[in-house]
Amino acid sequence: MPKRPSSQRWLQRQQRDPYVKQAQQSDYRSRAVYKLMEMDERDRLFRPGLVVIDLGAAPGSWSQYAIQRVGPRGRVIAIDVLPVGPVQGVTVIQGDFTEQTSYAACIQALEGGSADLVISDMAPNLSGIKSSDQARSIYLAELARDLALEVLKPGGDLLVKVFQGEGIDEFRRSLKEHFARIQSRKPRASREGSREFYLLAHDYRP
Ligand SMILES: C[S@@+](CC[C@H](N)C(=O)[O-])C[C@H]1O[C@@H](n2cnc3c(N)ncnc32)[C@H](O)[C@@H]1O
Repeated sequence: MPKRPSSQRWLQRQQRDPYVKQAQQSDYRSRAVYKLMEMDERDRLFRPGLVVIDLGAAPGSWSQYAIQRVGPRGRVIAIDVLPVGPVQGVTVIQGDFTEQTSYAACIQALEGGSADLVISDMAPNLSGIKSSDQARSIYLAELARDLALEVLKPGGDLLVKVFQGEGIDEFRRSLKEHFARIQSRKPRASREGSREFYLLAHDYRP
């Protein structure tokens, strides 16, 4: 069957993408790792011994990177609605984070402790209807924020993927109420045409 033009375009883009090539030549499962790596190099997100929650973790490249950076004294708890293949040292939960049981499972995995860093790369499946896609992405970001407010230690950080559009200013303001500093990040590996960017909320002030 001939390929539809959109899937051909996707294939061509994948073949030309230097980050896809780099990921294929490494052990990382996705090009997404290069976004996290760049933000970490710039903002020093990770340190040995940190406890990290990775939301929207599949296929698992952020978790692979996080566990390398926090080392054996640290912890990474990863959740996704899709399966995440085992990553040594990472606690994986499969579930829909919008469901109370999955949200609670993340908290339970901390075994009464708290987290130093929450990272969320969650993105909804796009329907093509801009307003509803934007509303769903803001909702996921709000849930990531709510978990962060519940589990972070004072001084902890939240890194959350968002999309430029309606509701973003309000979401950013809501972070300002709880964190000392909010920064926007658009790593080079984030596709230029995409409205995706990351908000980095530093220094949780409960
Ligand atoms: C861009 S991918 C994440 C890539 C990942 N950071 C990596 O490095 O491999 C976004 C992920 O968010 C997940 N996701 C979207 N909505 C979710 C939800 N409600 N609960 C859990 N995961 C969700 C998707 O299943 C998808 O795997």
